Amino acid sequence: MVHVNIFDTTLRDGEQSPGVNLNQLEKLEIARQLERLGVDIMEAGFPASSQGDFEAVRAIARTIKNCSITGLARATKSDIDIAWDALKDAAEPRLHIFIATSPIHMQYKLMKKPEEVVQTAVDMVAYAKQRFPHVEWSAEDASRSDLDFLVQIITKVIDAGATVINLPDTVGYTTPEEYGRMFRYIREHVPNIHKADLSCHCHDDLGMAVANSLAAIENGVTQVEGTINGIGERAGNASLEEIAVALNIRKDKYPFTTNLVLKEIKRTSDLVSRFTGMKVPPNKAVVGKNAFAHESGIHQDGVLKNALTYEIITPELVGVASNDLILGKHSGRHAFKEKLEQMGFSLAPEKLNEAFQAFKQLTDRKKEVTDEDLFTILTDIQTASVEVKKYELVAFQVQYASANLPTATVALTTPDGERVETARTGSGSVEALFNTLEALVKEEIHLTDFNLSSVGKGRDALAEVHVKMTVNGAQVSGRGSAQDVLKASAKAFLNAVNRVFFNQNATVTEPAAL
Ligand code: KIV
Ligand code: ZN
Repeated sequence: MVHVNIFDTTLRDGEQSPGVNLNQLEKLEIARQLERLGVDIMEAGFPASSQGDFEAVRAIARTIKNCSITGLARATKSDIDIAWDALKDAAEPRLHIFIATSPIHMQYKLMKKPEEVVQTAVDMVAYAKQRFPHVEWSAEDASRSDLDFLVQIITKVIDAGATVINLPDTVGYTTPEEYGRMFRYIREHVPNIHKADLSCHCHDDLGMAVANSLAAIENGVTQVEGTINGIGERAGNASLEEIAVALNIRKDKYPFTTNLVLKEIKRTSDLVSRFTGMKVPPNKAVVGKNAFAHESGIHQDGVLKNALTYEIITPELVGVASNDLILGKHSGRHAFKEKLEQMGFSLAPEKLNEAFQAFKQLTDRKKEVTDEDLFTILTDIQTASVEVKKYELVAFQVQYASANLPTATVALTTPDGERVETARTGSGSVEALFNTLEALVKEEIHLTDFNLSSVGKGRDALAEVHVKMTVNGAQVSGRGSAQDVLKASAKAFLNAVNRVFFNQNATVTEPAAL
């Protein structure tokens, strides 16, 4: 069996998904979960793209010790220097440096001749190698590059010290057969290829990212890059959970091993989905809500007689709990703490108290508190910063009658500690509430998206709201959950606004052009 390293780029390529904007605490929480999932390499961000990204990469590098941490850099000395500052405290720092190699990118984007691209790549790999023990070099748009040009540049960057050669299908253009053939060609024609690992990195524009990644693995790649839930630029990246489960279920065809702990997949998927606000489609392979549901009578009958008739993956394999009904009104602090630990949460004592209070409040209104409910309240508490000054909701009231204009009255405390209160109308209850909040906060707000869903089933289910907005010109997203949809909406609104205080630079700077 050949071992394949899993390179996760959820926090870099995944975070480049339109509208996704994670704060540092959320990134750290995802990083901790990726460590539990057993990824070998974690791309924590693009340190030179913004101060926020730099700080998040540095925090992750200082916290995560069981996998190699990497950051992206363009082929410039300043990007490499900034990346080193962010990554130097990692247990195993690694640089991911890239430059485009396709004719179209070299001519129109870089405006460089192929020889200049070779020279820049070689010089920057050699420069990076003075500090980083591991340097991954990526040929951006490799799948549309000339094969002999790739052979030439790869040979030289390996001589300059690159330890991993990544050949991305940047625009999701290639097919499995073509992509596999490219790796075979490189293995057969690059004389020093044995000195480096080969890596694949696929985008899903034509829906072939996972199939292309598997074809690459069959053709000698020993590192596969992707994201959780397949999030990423445009149509996204290859879904790591799908690749890992395909390798596991079809061992007969794919004699490869990975270090992924498959039963951590569902939790990782839930965390990424909740923090990014990118819902997992119900029919998504491996992690979708319906992935293990059998609807038709014929299928149900078959599964009851023998699960193997229609079930190739068991829910347990990927950590989907078969019975998630848990605590209720009479559960005590001890049972609560134990449950949290089972779910992979470790909260500081003051946050544990807060979580227990929130749980008790929920049990007053909701008969059965499920894992999903707990996950929702706990992730909010875990990633709430206590130190940052922010807007806080004191009280609100919304009046709605079918014949009258909805009116909201809201009281807030501002970041300066002042209490403010006002009322506004709107064409609906949510609009009235948002108009009032907007009038109270001093920031300039434009709401661009509003999404309401329920957490789990039942008429007493928690409501969860995700919003996207610009606050003082910066794009931010926010989320809020509560039993009442209006309260969840108000929380999501303020959560988005407060992100500007939490991390001033989180999205003000556009990620540098790739
Ligand atoms: O898709 C791509 O080409 C990339 C590179 C920066 C590796 O994300
Ligand atoms: Zn990419």
